[in-house]
Amino acid sequence: GEISNKDQKEQAAGQVSEMVKNGDVIGVGSGSTSYLALKAIAARVQKEGLDISAIPTSHEASLNCATLGLKTTDLMNSRPDWGFDGADEVDTDNRLIKGRGGAMFAEKLVMASSPKTYILVDGSKFVSRLGEKFALPIELDPRALHLVETKLKDMMKAKLKLRMAKGKDGPVITESGNLILDMTLEETVDNDLENRLRSIPGVIETGLFIGYPVEILTV
Ligand code: A5P
Repeated sequence: GEISNKDQKEQAAGQVSEMVKNGDVIGVGSGSTSYLALKAIAARVQKEGLDISAIPTSHEASLNCATLGLKTTDLMNSRPDWGFDGADEVDTDNRLIKGRGGAMFAEKLVMASSPKTYILVDGSKFVSRLGEKFALPIELDPRALHLVETKLKDMMKAKLKLRMAKGKDGPVITESGNLILDMTLEETVDNDLENRLRSIPGVIETGLFIGYPVEILTV
C-alpha cells in the first residue's frame, strides 16, 4: 500500500540517527519531524552510551532534549558539528520556508553556524513555487509593527496577517519577544527578497532559508 506521511517521517528520522558520532555537538530543530529524529538519536545515545550535546532551537526542543535525557549546550559555548530540522516548504532548488512554529530566528542562527543541516520532510512539503502553500513568516520587533506593515505593503502589495496565539488572547510573542507577520507570496521568490525584507528597520528575521548547506532527507 501507500506509505503514510507518518511512516515517511519515521524513516527519515532513522536516517538522521545513523549520522550520530561519539562526541558530536548537534543542532536540534523544532517541529514534529525533528522530534522523531531526536527520539531516534536519544535511543542510539542510550543504547551505545554515546557522548553527544544538543543545541536546541526552541523551548520545545529544549524540553524534548531534557525529557529524552540528552545533554544540551548553546551557541555561546559550542558550535554544532551538524544539525537537523524540519521545513514547511522546500522548492526544487532546496530553498526553504520555515517558521510555522515561530522558531525561525534560532533555527537560522543554528543552521548558519552548522557546516551541514539535514532537512527532514515528507512528500507534502515539496512545492514548485515557495509560498504555494504557506505564507512567509516575518519576525519583527513589536515597536516596528506599523512601520513594517506600511513598508511591506508599499514594497510588494503584500497581504499580511499578524499571527495570533492559540490558547491565550493576543498575538504570538516569539521566544525573543517579537511578533510575526505572515505574508502571502504572490510571485516567485528571488534570492534578493530576504535582503529587501531585512532592510526594513525592525525586521528581525524571515522564514526564507536560502543558500545554507542543507541536505534534504525524504523517502
Ligand atoms: C518551526 O519553526 C518550523 O520551521 C518547523 O521546522 C516546521 O514547521 C516543520 O514542522 P513539522 O515537522 O511538524 O512539519
